[in-house]
Amino acid sequence: MIKQWIYGSPLPDFALAEPVDLEKSWDVFPASRISKEETGLQFLTELFPGDRIFGLGETMRGIDKRGGRYVSYNTDDANHRHDMPSLYASHNFFVVVPREGDPWGLFFDTPARTVFDMDSGGEAMLRVTVESFDLRLVYVTGGDPLSICRQFLQVIGQSFLPPLWAFGFGQSRWGYSSSEDVRRVVKRHQEEALPLDYVCLDIGYMDRYIDFSVDKKKIPDLKALVLEMKEQGIRLVPIIDAGVKVEPGNPVYDEGVARGYFCVNKQGEPFQAAVWPGMTHFPDFFQPEASRWFGDQYRVLTDQGIEGFWNDMNEPSIFYSEASGHAGLFKLGLSHIAPRLAERLAMNTRDDYRYFYHRIGGKTVCHHDVHNLYGALMTRASAQGLQEQVKGRYLLFSRSSYIGAHRYGGIWTGDNYSSWEMLRQNVKQMPGMNMCGFLYSGADTGGFGGNCTRQLLLRWLAFSVFTPLMRDHSATMTREQETYAFGDTEAFRRILSLRYYLLPFLYSEFMKAALRRDMLFRPLCFDFPKDPMAARVEDQLMLGESLMVTPIVREDTDSRQVYLPEDMTMVRFANGEFLLEERSRGMHRITVPEDEVVFFVRKGRGFITAAKAVSCTRDLDLRDVRLITGDYYDQYLDDGMSRQADLSNIRRVRREER
Ligand code: GLC
Repeated sequence: MIKQWIYGSPLPDFALAEPVDLEKSWDVFPASRISKEETGLQFLTELFPGDRIFGLGETMRGIDKRGGRYVSYNTDDANHRHDMPSLYASHNFFVVVPREGDPWGLFFDTPARTVFDMDSGGEAMLRVTVESFDLRLVYVTGGDPLSICRQFLQVIGQSFLPPLWAFGFGQSRWGYSSSEDVRRVVKRHQEEALPLDYVCLDIGYMDRYIDFSVDKKKIPDLKALVLEMKEQGIRLVPIIDAGVKVEPGNPVYDEGVARGYFCVNKQGEPFQAAVWPGMTHFPDFFQPEASRWFGDQYRVLTDQGIEGFWNDMNEPSIFYSEASGHAGLFKLGLSHIAPRLAERLAMNTRDDYRYFYHRIGGKTVCHHDVHNLYGALMTRASAQGLQEQVKGRYLLFSRSSYIGAHRYGGIWTGDNYSSWEMLRQNVKQMPGMNMCGFLYSGADTGGFGGNCTRQLLLRWLAFSVFTPLMRDHSATMTREQETYAFGDTEAFRRILSLRYYLLPFLYSEFMKAALRRDMLFRPLCFDFPKDPMAARVEDQLMLGESLMVTPIVREDTDSRQVYLPEDMTMVRFANGEFLLEERSRGMHRITVPEDEVVFFVRKGRGFITAAKAVSCTRDLDLRDVRLITGDYYDQYLDDGMSRQADLSNIRRVRREER
C-alpha cells in the first residue's frame, strides 16, 4: 500500500512518476505525529530496541542508519568523515524495520533542508524536521523491507538506462585535459593489455573552465580525437559544471543574460558566485525554457561525436559570493593555486544559498527553499538535450541529485579519499542509493583525495568490478592512480579482466532490475529478513538475483570472515579461471590473494560469464557466454544501445548450450 499526504502547497512533483492515492486523515499512521513548528513541519515517532532503519541514499555511516543524524542539504564537502551529515544529494526515503511488527517506509518529498535524526541521542526517537510548511509525504507499507522498496521504486519510475559501454572500465583524473593526455592513457592501457572503455576529461579541457568550450591549444580537433579513439573502442566523457563563466562575448553567457535564464539576486540581476572559472552565473533550471536551453548547449560537444558526460559542481558548489560578504578574492586566488584548500574554506559559506532566487511559475523563490532540487534539475536538463542529440542511449552521471533524477542519469559519490574507510563506505552506500532509484552509481575507485596505495587500489577495484559505474578517478596533485602507475600490472590486469568476464551477467542483472523497477544491490537482511545474523552484516551485499559480494575492505590482510545465510557456491576468480566450491550456511574465513576475487552464488541459481577475455565492450559478444553455475540463466540481451528496452529481451541460457 502506498499513500501520500500533502501539506501546504508543494512544487509540482519531480520525484513521483506514477499517481499515488491522496490520504487526508492521519489515522493511518497512529503511532507517530506530524506537527507544525516555528520553522516548518516535524515528524516524530518512537523507536524500540532492535528497530533498524535503512535508506537515505548516498549518506554516510552504516547500511543501518539508526544512531545517526543526516541532513538533506546538498553540500560540496570533500571531508567525508563517517559522521558527516550532508553529502551532495538528498535521497529522503527510508524504511523502518521494527524488531516486532511490520516495516514501513516514508519519503519526505521536499526540496527544502530536512534533518533526519535517526535516534542520534539514543532517546529511542526518530525525528524528521523539514524547514518548510510545504511537503509531500509518501508512506509505504505491506510486506518485507524489500517489497516496500519495490513499491516505492514503482512509483518513482524507471531508472536511467546507460549504454553497454558505460559498464566498461573508465579511467579519469583531474588533470586529463589534452589530446596527448587521452592518447597517453589509452596507449598505456593497450601496452599493458589493461581493458578500458572510456576516458574522462576533467575541467582543464575547457577554455578557462568555460562550459561548452574546448581549449584548442590542448585539443585542436575534438571531432578527430573522438573518432581516433572510437576506432580503438574508446569513448571520451567530458565534464560539465553548473556555473557559466561571466564573460561578455561568450555566446552562452550573452544569451543566458539576454533571455533571463540565470538565477537572480534580490535586485533582479544575474547572481554572481565564484567557482572554478571565477565569477559565474547559475542557470535557473526551474524555468523550463532555461532548462531546455542549457540542455541544447551540449550539442556543441555531441556534434563532435561525444555520447557521455559527467555533470559537476551542481549542488551548486560556491567558493564565495559577494552577496554573502566572504573574503572572496582571497579564496578565488587560492582556487587556482590550492584548489582543495580553497574549496575547504568555501565550505562554510552556505549562506550564499539565501542570496539568490529562481523564477518558478511566475513567482520568485529563494534558492535556499528549493536548494536540494538544483542538481537534479541540471541532470534532467542535460538528459533532455542528450535524448535529442545522441542516437541511442547516452551516458550521464551527476554529483548532486534528488530522487527523480534517477530516471535521467546516474550518480557518483563525489570527492572521497584514498582510505580503507572510504572503501567500506562505498560498500555501504550502494544499497541506500538503489533504494532511491539510483542504480547506475559508483565511487571514485581508489579514492579522489590523498595518495592511493597499490593494495588499496587492487582491493577497491575488486569491489568496483560489481558496481555499474566503475571508474578510477583522482584529484590533481595526488600520486598517479592509474592501474599502470603501481609497477607490475599483472594483478590489475586480472581484476579488470574479471569485470569484462562479468559484463554479460552484470549488464543483464542491471537491465532486469531497472526494467522491473527493483534494487540491484541489497543488504543481506533484505533477502533474509528472518535471519538475525544477516541483519548485522554491513560488508557483504546481495547483487541481482543470485550473487553475494564479499570484498576485502581492510588493509594488510588476505582473508576475511564471511557470513552465509544459506548454503552457497563459492566462486573464486583466479588466474582467468572460475573455481567453484560448495560452502554451507554459517561463518567462514575465506582467503583472497590480491590478484583474485571471491564471491558467492545462491545455490542452484544460474551465473554466466563471457566466454572470452576482451579489452573493451566493443569486442564483447553478449551471446558468447558460459553457464558457470545452475542449470540455466535468464539473460537480458540487446544491442546495448537502443532505447527500446523491455523484458521481452530475455533468453534462457541452458547448460546444454555450453
Ligand atoms: C570536483 C569533482 C571532481 C573533479 C574536480 C575538478 O571536486 O567532484 O571529481 O575532478 O571538481 O573538476
